[in-house]
Amino acid sequence: MAGEGKTALECRNLWRVFGDAHGGKLANSALPKGDDAIRLAEEMSSAGDIVACGDINLKIKDGEFFVLMGLSGSGKSTLMRCMSRLTEPSAGELLIDGEDFLGISDQELMEVRRRKMGMVFQHFGLFPHMSVRENVAFPLRVQGASEAERNAKADEMITLVGLDGREDAFPHQLSGGQKQRVGIARSLAVDPELWFLDEPFSALDPLIRWQMQSELLRLQTLFHKTIIFVTHDFMEAVRLADRIAIMKDGLVVQVGTPEDIVLNPATDYVAEFVKEAPRTKIIKISQLMEPLKTGKPKKSGGEALHCDMTLEDALSWSAVRGGALPVADEDGNMIGTVPPERLTAALSGGDDGE
Ligand SMILES: Nc1ncnc2c1ncn2[C@@H]1O[C@H](COP(=O)(O)OP(=O)(O)O)[C@@H](O)[C@H]1O
Ligand SMILES: [Mg+2]
Repeated sequence: MAGEGKTALECRNLWRVFGDAHGGKLANSALPKGDDAIRLAEEMSSAGDIVACGDINLKIKDGEFFVLMGLSGSGKSTLMRCMSRLTEPSAGELLIDGEDFLGISDQELMEVRRRKMGMVFQHFGLFPHMSVRENVAFPLRVQGASEAERNAKADEMITLVGLDGREDAFPHQLSGGQKQRVGIARSLAVDPELWFLDEPFSALDPLIRWQMQSELLRLQTLFHKTIIFVTHDFMEAVRLADRIAIMKDGLVVQVGTPEDIVLNPATDYVAEFVKEAPRTKIIKISQLMEPLKTGKPKKSGGEALHCDMTLEDALSWSAVRGGALPVADEDGNMIGTVPPERLTAALSGGDDGE
């Protein structure tokens, strides 16, 4: 889960515009903010430019699973590519571990990419003439590791993603899911701090996709990487994310935890995605709770909802008890109550309990 900790990657007023109709409007010294930025983006679009990323402001925390979500063409891939400078931003700032990432030399950039970043793409990008082991070991070869070293590391990664025994297979002998496991193993071989995944499961069948999501969550509990994950599938975002940034036409329209977004969609565009989401599996008790007003924590005595329970978990409980339901934290301290009408309101999708 996301710690309160430090910021791994930050975008400040970041833009990426395709076309040159906007002329000099993106001078770093005079970048517009907020509504002015939105107006400028609209102006540029009407002048014929494509604003793939407009005034992006995001702070991604160390160890966070951060998802960029939006319809096709909303700018997700471009934003992710800007973050690794596979695409150069047109304006704004980008900081990695608090340090300017746009001003560094090409040499430094290459080093950061090689040692700090792992990338996985939708269409696998495996070398067809290399075996699974050679594919996974490839980034280590680029780093100059010895053959013994890179094969040992590659085999470790191959085991990790469940492909034991397929080390000598070639990509054409693998299923889509297996190919993507190779892509994942390869991207992890260099122990990246920042892990970028652009729609890695979009080409896979739903069941395989579900399994791969589970695998990814398992790997994340092992490694606690900072993950930037792109998807157009809202349910995938909800399942995986600590926080989601929702994009539309190059702009970020909402950033929040899955629960925040499901309870309080900021715009009609977001509400459309939320419609299909199973609210009972997403909304947490802590969001429906009225905090206790008075001072000293009191032990709940075990007869309480847990603040991290989902609405679904809480429902069977509420059927048994009447009246306001007590809520406890990790340590069993009473921290609030949930009035039963909030459970019902949250279920129906109407009142969010404000
Ligand atoms: N190299 C490029 N040249 C011109 N337009 C581009 C380029 N790359 C992306 N775009 C445009 O930028 C917009 C955002 O694209 P993209 O970031 O790929 O969206 P997403 O990943 O959300 O589908 C789209 O309108 C796309 O056509
Ligand atoms: Mg894309």
